[in-house]
Amino acid sequence: MQKKVLAIAMIAMSSFAFVSCNKDDDQPAAPQTLYERLGGKNAISAVVDQFIANVAADPKMKRTFQPLLDDVAKGNTARVTSLRNNLIDQIGQASGGPEKYMGKDMVTAHKGMKITDDEFNSLVADLVASLNKFSVPSKEQGELLSVLGGLKGQIVNQ
Ligand code: HEM
Repeated sequence: MQKKVLAIAMIAMSSFAFVSCNKDDDQPAAPQTLYERLGGKNAISAVVDQFIANVAADPKMKRTFQPLLDDVAKGNTARVTSLRNNLIDQIGQASGGPEKYMGKDMVTAHKGMKITDDEFNSLVADLVASLNKFSVPSKEQGELLSVLGGLKGQIVNQ
């Protein structure tokens, strides 16, 4: 009788061990980073390209971006390409991607421009228009804007 009990106990324990070792199934999927949910580098690049086009066409951006636009009009695209690549890296890094932002810090990049609140809001609206064009869901838009919005104090009034 004792042997039978022991045998049952051993079977019970071994099946428990089998179940508890079965780790590949039923694991909740790792949460996706904002970078992954945005669609990675290609999707971020498309958003940045449209964003730059929106900024270039926005009269409220003229005061600060005119020198860059003048360069482009003369066929010199080095500066706008550098801004584009820096923005892709900055957004990539801020959203959890592998990119590394190597540009100037935000205070240095905007020093002397005396960017106003109104100009900052207009630039954010140009970004939102691009995010909407690519149907980025409002949750992801909110997360991205909250990361970038956190930089406002380093950009406005420098
Ligand atoms: C969250 C908001 C913003 C972010 C993330 C951002 C990001 C950047 C970055 C990464 C650069 C390039 C830095 C480098 O060259 O190393 C830059 C440059 C610049 N930013 Fe911003 N910026 C923001 C807001 C603004 C606003 C509101 C304005 C003006 C209304 C502005 C005007 C400029 C201008 C004129 C340049 C220099 C472009 C050039 O001539 O090369 N930025 N910004």
